[in-house]
Amino acid sequence: MNSFELNKILGAILGTCLIVLSLNIAAGAIFAPEKPAKPGYAIAVQEHGAGDKAVAKEPEQPMEAMMASASMEKGQATAKQCAACHTFEKGGPNRVGPNLWNIVGRPKASVAGFNYSAAMKAKGGAWTFGDLYAYLANPRGFIPGTNMTFAGLSRGQQRADVIDFLRSHADSPVPMPKAAAK
Ligand code: HEC
Repeated sequence: MNSFELNKILGAILGTCLIVLSLNIAAGAIFAPEKPAKPGYAIAVQEHGAGDKAVAKEPEQPMEAMMASASMEKGQATAKQCAACHTFEKGGPNRVGPNLWNIVGRPKASVAGFNYSAAMKAKGGAWTFGDLYAYLANPRGFIPGTNMTFAGLSRGQQRADVIDFLRSHADSPVPMPKAAAK
C-alpha cells in the first residue's frame, strides 16, 4: 500500500466522521429532546390522597350498634393478642398487664398489687363500654402515659367483639349497652 492510498483511506475515515458529526448536530437541532426538570423517569400514576379514602369509607356504626352485633367467638380469637399480657379467668394472675376478670364496670386501676402507671391511676371512673371501646382503639390516645404498649384495634367491630368476650368473663355480666333513645 503506498502513502497515496493510505491518505485516501484516512481521508475517507475523517470525512465519514465529519459527516456523522454534522448529522448529529443537525439532528440535535431538529429533534431537540425535551429535558425533564428532574432527572429520572416520569411515571404517570394517579395519586390517591387520604381524602379520597375518607370519602369512600363508610361511616362507622355507633358503638352500641357494634356491640349489638358482636361475636364472642371472634372476640375470643382477637383476645389471643391480649393474652400475651393479660389473663381473663377469675383469680388469674397479673402478667405484664393486670388480670381482666370482671373488667366491664370495674373501677380503673383497681387490681390490688398491680403496678399501674400514674396516668391509669389518675384517669378515674369505671371501665364503661364506651371507655373500653375508646381505650382499645388507641390506648395511648385515650390515656396518654399508659404502660399498655398495645397499638390498638382500629376496627370498631373487632373492638366490640373483644369487649363482648371480656363482658362474659364476670360472675354477672353487665347488660349490653342500649342505643341512645331518640
Ligand atoms: C404488651 C402487653 C399488653 C397487651 C398486648 C395488652 N395489654 Fe392491656 N394492659 C397492659 C398493661 C401494662 C396495662 C396497665 C396499663 C397502665 O397501668 O397504664 C394494661 C391495662 C389494660 C386495661 C385496664 C385494666 C385496669 O385494671 O384498669 C384493660 C381494660 C386492658 N389492658 C385491656 C386489654 C385488651 C382487651 C387487650 C387486647 C386487645 C390488651 N389489653 C392488650 C398490657 C397489655
